Amino acid sequence: MAGPSSICISQITESDIPGAITAIQQAFADDPYNLWLYKDRSKLDLTRNSISLGIRCRWGMRNALFYVAKDSSAEEKDKVLGVAMWMPPKPTGTKESWDEWLEGWKLWAKQVGMNLWYGRGGLNVKRYWIWKQKQAEAQSEIWTDPHGYYFLNIMVVLPGEQGKGIGKALAREVTKRADEEGKRCYLESSRDVPNMKIYETMGFHFVKQMDCDDDGDICRLYCMVREPQGERQGERQGEPREGTRA
Ligand SMILES: CC(C)(COP(=O)(O)OP(=O)(O)OC[C@H]1O[C@@H](n2cnc3c(N)ncnc32)[C@H](O)[C@@H]1OP(=O)(O)O)[C@@H](O)C(=O)NCCC(=O)NCCS
Repeated sequence: MAGPSSICISQITESDIPGAITAIQQAFADDPYNLWLYKDRSKLDLTRNSISLGIRCRWGMRNALFYVAKDSSAEEKDKVLGVAMWMPPKPTGTKESWDEWLEGWKLWAKQVGMNLWYGRGGLNVKRYWIWKQKQAEAQSEIWTDPHGYYFLNIMVVLPGEQGKGIGKALAREVTKRADEEGKRCYLESSRDVPNMKIYETMGFHFVKQMDCDDDGDICRLYCMVREPQGERQGERQGEPREGTRA
């Protein structure tokens, strides 16, 4: 059974992708945001969903800080128990590189191809754009730090493995780097209970509730920020803390 001492965190590789997809699908099966976005469950197409996640994971492997957790003492040493994908900080004024532009374009083209072949697989397109709009608004309000934020974009642990320290070990891989660099981190949690308490143990604090409202059917997301901790923290003491503005 997994325990913190035998948990290994490594960068995702191609052979981890099927396990990562399983972990994401299982951990998000009853997630409020997922249930809101895929409103019509009769149309939910798990094959299409796996392909979509595969495209996203391969993009993340090249463009994000993307880690998997495994248990070195388990019989199935290669089984993916949890996944964390972070977007690196973008300091203010950073222009998109040609590589990033090309990668973004390839991601978009693959998704369009997938939609043409498989359809939307139950994804509610109107809700997707409501969420995107709210996310852009929240980030432009909260992301005031010119150094940018490490953005925890995906974080899951397999349901049977939760509560054993795996999520914390996954998060630490990047939070320790953020601390060394004196940078902030950010996430949007789709649950208040228990996730906000869990993320608080990792150093995050709540800054804003994001209400994605589709004619009264509301999906709530909880934006949280993490200040750098340790030595670099002192250097930033004079700076305003997010969530303290009007
Ligand atoms: C959120 C999630 C990634 C956390 O990973 P995890 O491995 O379960 O968390 P950990 O075991 O590392 O717990 C981290 C801390 O939270 C605490 N914690 C764990 N579960 C908790 C709960 N249900 N209530 C309160 N605290 C909890 C732990 O005690 C630990 O604190 P400590 O180090 O001070 O003892 C995982 O539970 C998950 O995948 N949930 C479902 C999918 C999801 O909601 N993902 C996030 C979307 S935003």
